[in-house]
Amino acid sequence: MNPTLRAALAALALSGTAAGADGLATPLTGTPGDPARGAQIVTDPQHGLCTLCHAGPFPQVAFTGTLGPDLTGVGARRTLPDLRQQIVDSRRANPDTIMPPYHATEGLTRVGERWQGTTLLTAQEVEDVVAYLATLTGDAP
Ligand code: HEC
Repeated sequence: MNPTLRAALAALALSGTAAGADGLATPLTGTPGDPARGAQIVTDPQHGLCTLCHAGPFPQVAFTGTLGPDLTGVGARRTLPDLRQQIVDSRRANPDTIMPPYHATEGLTRVGERWQGTTLLTAQEVEDVVAYLATLTGDAP
């Protein structure tokens, strides 16, 4: 194994998560994600904020942003571990991403007081969002 890869894997092991190139295979909680709750989080402009950047099969959302890719069909093109990793900390896939890391606290030095030392979504909320995204396998409604 090349030394850079070995160092990267050691750092990941130290960080206590099973993150890797294949994403996060292990669910964050013992309770399976609830897609209906996930749908609420994704489409709630006060909570998930996802639609600030993402369009998708969300007819109930009047205005959706275009900074991120359309989430239509994302459940078909990304695996579950991959989706989980993207929500937990999108910086693993793209260090320069503009997508917020929803279940990480490292590096967020000047977030508002409300968010200091806490995560944007709880572990269960991440599982709910992932379960919902996995259902988005079809074309736009
Ligand atoms: C500030 C903008 C922004 C917000 C808010 C945001 N994202 Fe993203 N998202 C992006 C961008 C940009 C990408 C493309 C990857 C990159 O540039 O890192 C992305 C990529 C993704 C992907 C991979 C899409 C694909 O086609 O492979 C998923 C899934 C995703 N986001 C889900 C979400 C969910 C769910 C939320 C809310 C909990 C969310 N995003 C909030 C900007 C955002």
